[in-house]
Amino acid sequence: MRPSDLDLYQPEALLDPYAHYAKLRELGPVLFDPEREIWLVPGYAEASGVLRNHKEFVSGDGVTYEGVGDRLERYPLIENDPPVHTRIRRAVQPAFTKGPIEQLRPAIEAAAKSIAEKAVALGEIDAVQAVAQPMPDKAMELLTGLTPPSAQTLADWSDAVVRAQEPAASARHSELLIEALNWLTEVGVPGLPAHCLGRLITESGGANRGLEADGSERLMTLASIWLAGIDSTGAMLGNAIGAFIEHPDQWELLRARPDLIPNAVEELLRFEAPFRIFYRRTRAETEIGGTTIPASAAVCAVLASANRDPRQFPDPDRLDVTRENARTHLSFGTSIHLCLGSPLARLEATSMLTELTRRVLRFERTGEPVRSPSQTMRKFDSLPVRLVPAPGVA
Ligand code: HEM
Repeated sequence: MRPSDLDLYQPEALLDPYAHYAKLRELGPVLFDPEREIWLVPGYAEASGVLRNHKEFVSGDGVTYEGVGDRLERYPLIENDPPVHTRIRRAVQPAFTKGPIEQLRPAIEAAAKSIAEKAVALGEIDAVQAVAQPMPDKAMELLTGLTPPSAQTLADWSDAVVRAQEPAASARHSELLIEALNWLTEVGVPGLPAHCLGRLITESGGANRGLEADGSERLMTLASIWLAGIDSTGAMLGNAIGAFIEHPDQWELLRARPDLIPNAVEELLRFEAPFRIFYRRTRAETEIGGTTIPASAAVCAVLASANRDPRQFPDPDRLDVTRENARTHLSFGTSIHLCLGSPLARLEATSMLTELTRRVLRFERTGEPVRSPSQTMRKFDSLPVRLVPAPGVA
C-alpha cells in the first residue's frame, strides 16, 4: 500500500468514505499518514479512548487539520483544555440542561410542523433548502436571540467555519468568517432582544458571569455556539432524508412505530456522522493500542469510521432504527468536549421526524443529489426529492 492510499482527504475517500474507513480499520488501530503527517485512529475503542484521554490528547493546540497555529482567535470551548475550558463551559452549560431545552420545545415543534407542512405542500423539493437548513436556522434564533441574516448567508458562514480549517481551505473561507464576526458585532449583538442567551453571554459573561469581559472571549463564545449549531444539524437532517430514500423499509417502520423516533435519531447520527473527524494533539510521547505516538503529533479521531466499527456495531453498514446501542455513537464526541448543543440537535431532529412521519408516505429521488466538497462535514449541498403524501394528507 502506498502512503497516499491512507489519505482521508483524497476525493474517492470523501465521496465513498465508508469503504475507505473499513480498509483503514483493517490496517490497524492507529496508522501514520506520512504525507499529511497525521495519526489516524479509525476504530471505535481507540477513537473514543483518544477523546476521553483529554490530558494526553489535548484540544488547546487545535482540533482541526490546520490546528491553532499562530491564529489570533481561538474557539473558546472547543479549542481549550481545563481549567480554561471548564470555566467557559460552566458559564454556558446551564442553557443546555433539561429545563431550558424543554422550554424551547413548543417553539421548535411548531417550527418543525410549519417546515414539514410547507415541504409536503410543495411536493417536489430540494430537501436541503426546504427542510434541513430552515430547522436549525430557526432553532438557533430561538436559542440565542440572534435574528439570522438571509438563509444563504448563514449557510455560507457556517460552512466556512469548518472549511477554513481543511487542507483545501481557501482565502474565501477566511473572508466569510470575518464577515460573520463583523455582522455579529455590528448587527447581530446590538439587535438582540432584552432577555436571551446572546445577551446573557455578551453582557453578563454567562450564567455564572464566568466569561472574561476583556477581549473577545464573550463574542467568540456566542459566535461558536451560534455557528456550530447551523451546518451540523442541517447536515444531519439532510443525511437523514438521504438515508431514508435509500432505506424505505426503515421509513415505513418509523411511520408504523413513531416511538422509535428518538432511537432513529441516534442511529441516523451513527450511520452518517456529520463531522467525520476531529483532531487532538500530543504534547508528550504517549501510545494508542500499543503504538508509540510522539510528542507534538496530530491525532485524528475518525468519528465516522468509529461509528461503523463492527466491533462496536454489528452489521455496521445497515441502517437499523431499532439498533440497541445506537446511542453509543461518537457523532457528538464524548467526555469533556461532548457536544454542548446535542440536546437541542436531538430535539430538532425528533421534532422534524415526528412531523415528517405524520405526513410523508415515502421519499422519492427526483434528481442527482450533490454532496458538499467539505472535507470534514458529510452533508448534501442539494438533495432533490418528492415527498409522497401519506393518505389523508392534502
Ligand atoms: C447534529 C448536530 C451536531 C453535531 C453532529 C455536533 C457534533 C459535535 C462534536 C463531534 C463535538 C465535539 C468536538 C470535539 O470533541 O473536539 C461538538 C462540540 C460542540 N458543539 Fe456540537 N454538534 C451538533 C450540534 C450542535 C449545536 C446545535 C450546537 C449549539 C447549539 C453545538 C455546539 C457545540 C459546541 C459549543 C461544542 C464545543 C463543546 C466543548 O468543547 O466543550 N453543536 N459538536
